[in-house]
Parts: sequence; C-alpha cells; structure tokens
Amino acid sequence: METVLSGARPTGLVHLGNYFGAIRNFVRMQDSYNCYYFIADYHSLTTHPEAKALNENVKNLLATYLACGVDPEKATLYIQSHVPEIPELYLLFNMLAYKGELEKCPTFKEKVRSQQKAKKTINAGLLTYPVLMGVDILIHRAAKVPVGKDQMPHLEMARNFAKRFNFNTKSEFFPEPEAFNFGQELVKVPSLDASGKMSKSATNPNSAIYLSDEDKVITKKVKKAKTDSGPTEPNQEKPEEIENIFDLMRLVSTEDTVNHFDEAYNNCTIRYGDMKKQLAEDMVAFVAPIRERIKSYRQDEALLAKMVKQGAEKARASASATLQGAKELMGMRYF
Ligand code: TYM
Repeated sequence: METVLSGARPTGLVHLGNYFGAIRNFVRMQDSYNCYYFIADYHSLTTHPEAKALNENVKNLLATYLACGVDPEKATLYIQSHVPEIPELYLLFNMLAYKGELEKCPTFKEKVRSQQKAKKTINAGLLTYPVLMGVDILIHRAAKVPVGKDQMPHLEMARNFAKRFNFNTKSEFFPEPEAFNFGQELVKVPSLDASGKMSKSATNPNSAIYLSDEDKVITKKVKKAKTDSGPTEPNQEKPEEIENIFDLMRLVSTEDTVNHFDEAYNNCTIRYGDMKKQLAEDMVAFVAPIRERIKSYRQDEALLAKMVKQGAEKARASASATLQGAKELMGMRYF
C-alpha cells in the first residue's frame, strides 16, 4: 500500500479552502492508502508564536479533522511536535537545502511581504519552512500528498531534497513525493472578495467561510460577496469575482443549480441576489452538520488526548525507522 501524508497549520479557523483543497481528500484516501495526517504546530510558530492561541487551535483542528471524517482507526493522526524524529531529520535536511532556493521560494517571498507589512520579524524558521515540510513528508517516505494548489512550490522542493539525498547516498531511499488530487488538477478555492485564494490570514474577515461559521454568518458573508452590475451581452466572459461565485457554487450545489445560473448568466437574465441566496442556502446545508460535529468533538478533550497519544506512537515507529535508515546511509552509525 502506498504511503500518504498531509497536514495543516493550526493558525486559525479551518475554511472551505482547507476542506476542498485537502481534508476532503484525507477522508477519501484513508481506505486505500497507508495514511498519516498531522497538525503542523512547528510550522505555525514561524508566523504565529502565541502559546494560548496555539493550544486552542491545535484542539480545534483535531476536532475538525474528526468532524470531516478522518478516522483514527484507519489513518495515523498526530501532532508534529510529538514526534522528535522530525526535528532531527530536519537538522540533517538543512544541509541538503540551498540558501538561494529557499530565498527564491514564492511562499517565502509572500510571507516576507506580509510579515513586513504587519511590522513583524522574519525568523530563520520561515526561511527553512519548506525543509521542515519536506521532512514531514519524507519521514514516512510518503509518495502522495493531498494538498491545495498553493503548496505546489513546497512539493517541488521536497522532491529536490529527496533527489539530492538519494544522489549523495547512491540510494533510492526516499520516494519523490507528488501533490495529489484524484486524477484532477489541484484545487484553489477563491475568496469571497476576489482577493485571491481563501485564506486563514486574510485581512477581510468576510472573505473566507469557516467550517465553524454559524448559519447567519455564512448567509451574511455570501450576501456581501463581490459581484458586478451583470452581463450586458450573451455568452460574455465572466469577470473574476463572478467566476469565483460559480466556483464556490460548484463545490456545494448540485450540477442542475450551477447550470441554471450559468444559462441565466449567458442569456443575461441572471439576478445575483437569487444566485447568492441559493449559494448561501447550499453552503449552510453543507457546513452546518460539520460545524455541529466539530463542537461535539472539541468538548471531548479526553478522546482527543488519547487519540493523539496513540497517533504519536504509530508515527514515531515509522519516523524512527526512516531516521535510522537515513543516518546509516549517511555514514552516521559509528560504533
Ligand atoms: P495550510 O494550513 O495553509 O492549509 C492546509 C491545506 O489546505 C489547503 N488550502 C487550500 N486549498 C485550496 N484552496 C484554498 N484556498 C486553500 N487554502 C489552503 C492547503 O493547500 C493545504 O493542503 N504548509 C502547509 C502545512 C504543511 C504540510 C506539510 C502539508 C506542513 N507540512 C506536509 C502537507 C504535507 C500549510 O501551510 O497548509
């Protein structure tokens, strides 16, 4: 069985982008692959070092994984900092990464801009973020990584680290991991205000729909979504903000509903108010049951604690085998 690994940072509330880009596939893959899913708490510290928020976010994310259908009996579910083999391999992988490529990484450049804008410092952990991410994947020698489109540059780097290690040690120890989405292109869920992708760190709180949003909040956010004054000619190309609303509708509404509004757009009879009303209804129907399950799992701290303890044991068994194997190939077994 092929090994799969993926995770998310506990840096805020989980939104529809995280769900459709990643977590939905975690659930789909757990029956047919050897799956490891984790909470990237070390990664959070690169931009969000507040201890109190971290504690809450880790538990919320765990409850969210479960609420979305990740089954700890089928997949190994753990917290990154519970597996000390990860920072050890990270240290070794730092020798495989080049300063220039880390500085050039588009996600690093973007983070530098946003940290500077928020008058925050840029720490070394942010620069070596992709090294740690490569280790997260390769510590279990995973070949498939269900992620959203934004993680592509990191996957590319993980493949490079694997290739370099194999070349240096004349081995085929690490697979070259690939981003995965069931034979389709990777997903990018747009924001509601046409400001790019839906994101946890967006400055506009109305731009993302969180899995924990109450019905009224969802309806309000959808109503406020950016639109234009409507098409003026038949079959006109859709501007970005309208395409975004269609994209969001494709995620939660039926095909018939999407086709209905698509036709209305193409013959210029569309009323955005009606479309948003329908989208809000379908969004609420999709999110509400997940939200309620998050609440109930979140209250059961004993269950969450037990689960991550078991998860850490399984993850450490796999991680320590990889670490030992890697050190041996590097000539680091001395006596
Ligand atoms: P994070 O926490 O930002 O996001 C978690 C997952 O959600 C996906 N995602 C999206 N997909 C589609 N549309 C969007 N608008 C959208 N926003 C987020 C992300 O692609 C991701 O799959 N670096 C990772 C965490 C990480 C990781 C790893 C992932 C650390 N180590 C190893 C996989 C393997 C991150 O910041 O994800």
